[in-house]
Amino acid sequence: MEDTIKFINERTENFKPQVGIILGSGLGELADEYCKFAIPYSEIPNFIKSTVQGHKGRLVFAEIAGKNVVMMQGRNHFYEGHSMHEITYPVRVMKKLGVETLILTNAAGAVNESYVPSDLMLIKDHINFMGTNPLIGPNNPDFGERFPDMTEIYRKDLRNAAKKCASELGIDIKEGVYLANSGPSYETPAEIRMARLLGADAVGMSTVPEAIVANYCGMRVLGISCISNTASTHDGEKLSHAEVIDTTNKTKEKFKALIVKILANL
Ligand code: HPA
Repeated sequence: MEDTIKFINERTENFKPQVGIILGSGLGELADEYCKFAIPYSEIPNFIKSTVQGHKGRLVFAEIAGKNVVMMQGRNHFYEGHSMHEITYPVRVMKKLGVETLILTNAAGAVNESYVPSDLMLIKDHINFMGTNPLIGPNNPDFGERFPDMTEIYRKDLRNAAKKCASELGIDIKEGVYLANSGPSYETPAEIRMARLLGADAVGMSTVPEAIVANYCGMRVLGISCISNTASTHDGEKLSHAEVIDTTNKTKEKFKALIVKILANL
């Protein structure tokens, strides 16, 4: 961790980010538009390379709406074969850099039948269905306690502020429960019915590990899902990664405007 932080501080002239943003599939453009310093993950000591399609894989530092921000343009996923500890390492790095608020974004499939592709959903709570936990292993009390509370990961004050921003922009934003599966296979229709029974509104393959670690470290978390598809395939319709990227591309302007407004109001 010391090597990672020293390297980043040198490359960013000791830039001090207050807010971290993890940009999900197809949502990375914010980091192209606002970029003061950019470091490819592959150059950072102890970081892992991002391999998934539609992701760039770099840490981008910028000032947006008066806030110092560090963005992950592309995240690492559990389904790529990395360990839970590896995929959440960047959250610990952000904590060490001074980040207090973390905005997690993703592309997700709709489980709630009233959601349509290109809707945005604030994450109210999550269900960890990945079958493991990023905090398994020896605990480092420098970051947090052994048995951390998880009753309000996605802070209500941040969600209310985000709702106000959305309403001012004329965006109809949903609020719901995100269920994370490991992936990389998409869900079967039976699994989507199960997710609905369990109280989920959207499904995806990310975010939950980072949210658990951020909350454990005492960071304030806001989560936003871009609904990219109706997860429950109907009438033999099939789901592809291309469709997910296509919808997030259509949603990205709305998404970027919302993030900038949220940052201005933090
Ligand atoms: N399921 C899981 N992950 C996803 C989906 C989905 O339908 N869409 C985007 N990410």
